Amino acid sequence: MSASNSSKQLFSFYALFFFSLICSIKSDELQVLLKLKSALQSSNPDAFSSWDSGHSPCRFSGITCDANETVTQIELSNRMLAGVLPFDSICQLQSLEKLSMGFNSLYGAVTEDLNNCVKLQYLDLGNNAFTGAFPKISSLNKLQYLYLNKSGFSGTFPWKSLKNMSNLVQLSIGDNPFDPIPFPEEVLKLKKLNWLYMANCSLQGQIPVGIGCLTELIDLELSDNNLSGGIPAEIGKLQKLWMLELYNNEIRGKLPSGLGNLSNLEFFDASMNYLEGNLSELRTLTNLVSLQLFANQFSGQVPAEFGEFKKLVNLSLYKNQLTGPLPQKLGSWAKFDFIDVSENFLSGPIPPEMCKQGTMKALLMLQNRFTGEIPASYANCSGLQRFRVSNNSLSGTFPSGIWGLPVVKLIDIEFNQIEGEITSDIKNAKTLETITAGHNKLTGELPEEISQAAALVKVELNNNRLSGQIPDAIGELKHLSSLKLQSNSLSGSIPASLGSCVSLSDVNVADNSLSGKIPSSLGSLLTLSSLNLSNNKLSGQIPESLSSLRLSLLDLSNNELTGPIPQSLSIEAYNGSFSNNPGLCSESVRLFPRCPTETDMSKDVRNKTR
Ligand SMILES: *[C@@H]1O[C@H](CO)[C@@H](O)[C@H](O)[C@H]1NC(C)=O
Ligand SMILES: *[C@@H]1O[C@H](CO)[C@@H](O)[C@H](O)[C@H]1NC(C)=O
Ligand SMILES: *[C@@H]1O[C@H](CO)[C@@H](O)[C@H](O)[C@H]1NC(C)=O
Ligand SMILES: *[C@@H]1O[C@H](CO)[C@@H](O)[C@H](O)[C@H]1NC(C)=O
Ligand SMILES: *[C@@H]1O[C@H](CO)[C@@H](O)[C@H](O)[C@H]1NC(C)=O
Ligand SMILES: *[C@@H]1O[C@H](CO)[C@@H](O)[C@H](O)[C@H]1NC(C)=O
Ligand SMILES: *[C@@H]1O[C@H](CO)[C@@H](O)[C@H](O)[C@H]1NC(C)=O
Ligand SMILES: *[C@@H]1O[C@H](CO)[C@@H](O)[C@H](O)[C@H]1NC(C)=O
Ligand SMILES: *[C@@H]1O[C@H](CO)[C@@H](O)[C@H](O)[C@H]1NC(C)=O
Ligand SMILES: *[C@@H]1O[C@H](CO)[C@@H](O)[C@H](O)[C@H]1NC(C)=O
Ligand SMILES: *[C@@H]1O[C@H](CO)[C@@H](O)[C@H](O)[C@H]1NC(C)=O
Ligand SMILES: *[C@@H]1O[C@H](CO)[C@@H](O)[C@H](O)[C@H]1NC(C)=O
Repeated sequence: MSASNSSKQLFSFYALFFFSLICSIKSDELQVLLKLKSALQSSNPDAFSSWDSGHSPCRFSGITCDANETVTQIELSNRMLAGVLPFDSICQLQSLEKLSMGFNSLYGAVTEDLNNCVKLQYLDLGNNAFTGAFPKISSLNKLQYLYLNKSGFSGTFPWKSLKNMSNLVQLSIGDNPFDPIPFPEEVLKLKKLNWLYMANCSLQGQIPVGIGCLTELIDLELSDNNLSGGIPAEIGKLQKLWMLELYNNEIRGKLPSGLGNLSNLEFFDASMNYLEGNLSELRTLTNLVSLQLFANQFSGQVPAEFGEFKKLVNLSLYKNQLTGPLPQKLGSWAKFDFIDVSENFLSGPIPPEMCKQGTMKALLMLQNRFTGEIPASYANCSGLQRFRVSNNSLSGTFPSGIWGLPVVKLIDIEFNQIEGEITSDIKNAKTLETITAGHNKLTGELPEEISQAAALVKVELNNNRLSGQIPDAIGELKHLSSLKLQSNSLSGSIPASLGSCVSLSDVNVADNSLSGKIPSSLGSLLTLSSLNLSNNKLSGQIPESLSSLRLSLLDLSNNELTGPIPQSLSIEAYNGSFSNNPGLCSESVRLFPRCPTETDMSKDVRNKTR
């Protein structure tokens, strides 16, 4: 009995001991989490509302436990948290596998105590504001996911700690101001990596040949570094690659043969480097969604195969030395978004079907040698915001519907041989801010409906063949800052309503056949700094009101103006401003005859005010 009693006692002793052991672990975990809570501030009052000592830690929001009610995960990313993380206490959570604290405002140092979190598989401290170097974490050899991107770490990253992390699948340490280093060899041993984000973290030297060993890579991002040398051909071994970002480095040479083997590649950006040679290697990359190679030294033709890429939505090849035509079916298959091939030597016609799906936002093809007409299809491109084809050799009639596209902001067609009229369609262009269409062969009148394009800031239609009058309604354009209509065949008078365009700073209507008087309303345009009315048939007197303007340029030369030059305009700087107006006179500008006699009294007054 005593034996059984004592064994019962012993049993309950052990049970009690075991129970209290569990409880003490439990209460320790509670304490750890309450300590974490007290270390953090949140601008969201509900962030820790479930975190109180009356609950089991396993009921705290963001906390996950295993079947034994032991904390295994802390998921507090993106909760507007600030504070210093108490790693010494957090890592007392013996079973912690996931610590996710990204997208907060955590600060201070990350300490070596982190090494006690030996079970961690997932660590996200990214997108925070830590300071100092990141500590050695060689005991965290179970890590699979490590996100430290954009979190403020500086100094030298503990690359050697990666040696033991053979299970690492994702490594993201970009956007940190580390000391410059060559590409770390340790990374090349992480054979399971499928995601490597090392952009903008001061890498220099060459991309190592060994990159070809990381055959699981889906995403490789090395942009915004100081990498030099060429793209190693071994990159062609990364058959699973879906995204390759190399932009803004110092990379030279040709696209290596083998790159074209990356048939799963959808996003490739090697812009802003010194790459050269042709683009032929890319002709097999039929799954490309976005190709960006701007600001390099590529030459040769754009491969015809690009015209068959079924997923292509973004193509940016500007600032290279590309020649020849663009494939005509380019962009016609997918929901195309934008093309920018400006500043090359491309020729031939503009591909007509890039807005076939109606999704195109920007067509940027300026500064090339494109010929032919602007395809009529773009008049239907209702999402188009920027249409820029300036400095080419385009001809034919401008599709009038483009003037009235509903969300277009910029129409830039200057320096071509484009014909046609500015049609009343423009009344629909409610967001149109800029028209730069100078140096073309546009004809017809400026429609009065232009007044309904109320967002216009800049209207440059100079050096065309426009005729008729400047419409009165132009006065309704309250944002108009620059109006350039010089070198056309406009006639009639300058509408007095122009004085209602309260934002005007630059007006040039020179070289037309404008007649009548200069409207005195122009004198009320307080922001006007440049007024060029030269080479017209303007007559009558120069309105006294112009005296109140602070102009840096005034050109009224080559007109038929008469009478006195207003006193305050008669300063030396303006002495070319009035030439070739035989009827003008002045008291002070020597080149002009003195005005007909005035009374002695008014002369006295003038003398006194000098
Ligand atoms: C729960 O604890 C028991 C005893 O310590 C252990 O055998 C078991 O593996 C634990 N379960 C989990 C999910 O950790
Ligand atoms: C940066 O880190 C966050 C987590 O903080 C992660 O979700 C994101 O994917 C990382 N970005 C890149 C490009 O690796
Ligand atoms: C790797 O882990 C082993 C044991 O897991 C340890 O002895 C060794 O020091 C670690 N290596 C590094 C470089 O930390
Ligand atoms: C590069 O990283 C720094 C932090 O080191 C960040 O402030 C900056 O925005 C990043 N640059 C880019 C282009 O993302
Ligand atoms: C880029 O790296 C080269 C060495 O490859 C170095 O000479 C140069 O100073 C670095 N430039 C910057 C801006 O870090
Ligand atoms: C590319 O693929 C071809 C054919 O499959 C193969 O012969 C070549 O070695 C590959 N190149 C690279 C760099 O992997
Ligand atoms: C592209 O350049 C390679 C050499 O880099 C050359 O072999 C090939 O003929 C060129 N292709 C075209 C179409 O010019
Ligand atoms: C295409 O480019 C636009 C503008 O830069 C961007 O907003 C969009 O996300 C890009 N689309 C793809 C699929 O990359
Ligand atoms: C524009 O769209 C209309 C209606 O969808 C269609 O009838 C017309 O043919 C299209 N015009 C062009 C030039 O694509
Ligand atoms: C377009 O061409 C004109 C005349 O050749 C030149 O003055 C202007 O700078 C060019 N525009 C651009 C954006 O290069
Ligand atoms: C006024 O405009 C005409 C035509 O563009 C130009 O020839 C003249 O130089 C301009 N006047 C001044 C002072 O710039
Ligand atoms: C103004 O006239 C003087 C001589 O009378 C001449 O030297 C100067 O170049 C002229 N200035 C302008 C802007 O025409």
